[in-house]
Amino acid sequence: MGGDAQRSADISLYEVSLRDGLQNEKGVIATADKKRLLDALVATGLKRIELTSFVSPKWVPQLADAEELAKLALPAPPGIDLSALVPNAKGLERALSVGLGEIAVFLSVSETHNMKNVNKSVGRTMEVFGEIVPPALAAGVRVRAYVSTVWGCPYEGAVDAGRAIDIAVRLSELGCYQISLGDTIGVGNPQQTRDIVKRALAVLPVERIALHLHDTRGTALANILAALDLGVRDFDSAVAGVGGCPYAPGAAGNVATEDLVYMLEGMGMKTGVDLDRLVEAGNVAERILGRPLPGKVHKAGPFRTRPS
Ligand code: HMG
Ligand code: MG
Repeated sequence: MGGDAQRSADISLYEVSLRDGLQNEKGVIATADKKRLLDALVATGLKRIELTSFVSPKWVPQLADAEELAKLALPAPPGIDLSALVPNAKGLERALSVGLGEIAVFLSVSETHNMKNVNKSVGRTMEVFGEIVPPALAAGVRVRAYVSTVWGCPYEGAVDAGRAIDIAVRLSELGCYQISLGDTIGVGNPQQTRDIVKRALAVLPVERIALHLHDTRGTALANILAALDLGVRDFDSAVAGVGGCPYAPGAAGNVATEDLVYMLEGMGMKTGVDLDRLVEAGNVAERILGRPLPGKVHKAGPFRTRPS
């Protein structure tokens, strides 16, 4: 499992609500409210948190306050890894200028989604990563990577899983410590997930692989269970299920962190996260966004299925 933060838990969660969640909001959330949500997330025991994106503010105005938020958030509390999306050299320069210890590069398997998302072909995007990952590593910054639209593309439909895994291997060879495979539009099913994860495990060590599953069609937890059975232990999630992708029409948020923690802890797996505090963080997210959010456990409340 990646990053410097302690890995005593069975499962390592990577929290994306502040980035993947808020990038899709219609309005712009105040920087102070983002910091309030960050504090609530840190209080839960989550160790790996994606803070924002150093992308073009014209493309994603919701995250235009990246430097401002980073200044409030850094230095990160002890044991916490904070990260941010970086698409190019300008983004890396911005991330380095605030002293971030980790970044995440991202691209899609499908050409159309990649073009809509970062205005480049997949090949050109890989060249850009070849230009920015080595200097990031040389500066002592850890690099994570996302491969999006692995389960399906909103523009091209079915996607070749072999091509997705080839890209993941190249990102690993470039020095990315972990590759998060994305069901960007939440179309996957457990059988497909088993196929994708088996292909990934045939060429990459398990700790290099994470799953980033949007819950658009309600199959994210079932897909995570399929991946757990194959040994995957790294999952992305967003408190209260907030989010989507501005360049993936109809995309819903990631699997809700509290729903995932509820399931995992109920199965006897340690996440290192306090579920009651996670419920409170989900409530903070709802208050900040001013509407009910899709996560279930922050509404229904925890229930101990195992004697404590
Ligand atoms: P472009 O327009 O082709 O960029 O956008 P450019 O290089 O031609 O530059 C144009 C202008 O933008 C220039 O300014 C640059 O300086 C500026 P001007 O000279 O016109 O004043 N610029 C920047 N400014 C600030 N920060 C930067 C930056 N780069 C250029 N980093 C670009 C290309 C990649 C920048 C743009 O397409 C972009 O920002 N895209 C990001 C879109 C995005 O964030 N999408 C959502 C995240 S991906 C996702 O959600 C999927 C994921 O969750 C996984 C999953 O679900 O599967 C990760
Ligand atoms: Mg996403």
